[in-house]
Amino acid sequence: MKAVVLAGGSGSRLAPVTGPINKHFLPIYNKPMIYYPLSMVMLCGIREVMLVVNPGDLDKFRALLGNGEELGMRIEYVIQPFPRGLAEGLILSEQFLKGESVCYVLGDNIFFGHDLTYILKEAMADIEENGGAYVFGYNVKDPWRFGVVEFDSEGRVISIEEKPRSPKSNFAVVGLYFYDSMAVEYAKEACPSDRGEIEITSVNNRYLEEGRLKVKLLGRGFAWFDAGTHNSLLEAGEFVATIENKTGLMIGCIEEIAFNNGWIDIEQLKRLAGRLSGTFYGDYLWERIRRIDAGN
Ligand code: TTP
Repeated sequence: MKAVVLAGGSGSRLAPVTGPINKHFLPIYNKPMIYYPLSMVMLCGIREVMLVVNPGDLDKFRALLGNGEELGMRIEYVIQPFPRGLAEGLILSEQFLKGESVCYVLGDNIFFGHDLTYILKEAMADIEENGGAYVFGYNVKDPWRFGVVEFDSEGRVISIEEKPRSPKSNFAVVGLYFYDSMAVEYAKEACPSDRGEIEITSVNNRYLEEGRLKVKLLGRGFAWFDAGTHNSLLEAGEFVATIENKTGLMIGCIEEIAFNNGWIDIEQLKRLAGRLSGTFYGDYLWERIRRIDAGN
């Protein structure tokens, strides 16, 4: 399976900050926002990633992440000329995907929770083996901001509505999806919505109509942030700071994950840490290296 991470968009809700800077570079506590969705993909064991970026941001993303080689990955970039909606990244990634299944992630979504990687890997394996799509529902108090899942009396999913005025449940569809190879076609066939966007909800509903959509609900033990507003950006940063300062372990540290996955060796990790020496982030990496060297 390959991954596509969406890092374009207009970020208008974070204006005026997002006038000169793309929101995916903004810090969530101690690292850029884009590290969090990228680290989820890495935790799923996916090494080939396409980043969908705005025309003016390509060089900045390249400066931050390069071609992924230093993390033992392959990171490619495709430009989205205009933010035409969440599903357009699928169409733009057609050549990259070459008919493979995809883990599709929104670049401003942050996830945390016990066994989350296990749950995602299970869903991923299911899609690779049986096809279809997997989406995840999360209970929120402001469902009108998201795609919302409607259930029948037996708990079966009957629809997903994009930003409904009267949400039929409190379950929002989070921004991480697994799709088989049909997703690209479904995105191409989707009609733009009233707001003129190719909606990811149209792709999800297409799978639902075909009886090939699976929805898993994530319970209270998980945290999910869509860091696209000033409040959620702050909340996400505070959450990460609290967990990291309590445990001494970082969330979304891409160098550490690459090492733990066996994609880079200790010498490569030291080189990456060396570049960040004297910084909070670099000190964390050196502390990990010291522990690895000490065998714990
Ligand atoms: P949104 O938060 O829905 O949109 P946005 O980033 O343009 O922000 P705003 O609504 O405040 O104007 O986007 C979710 C994620 O998808 C985010 O990481 C940006 C990305 N995105 C794209 O890459 N291309 C797009 O066409 C859109 C709409 C979003």
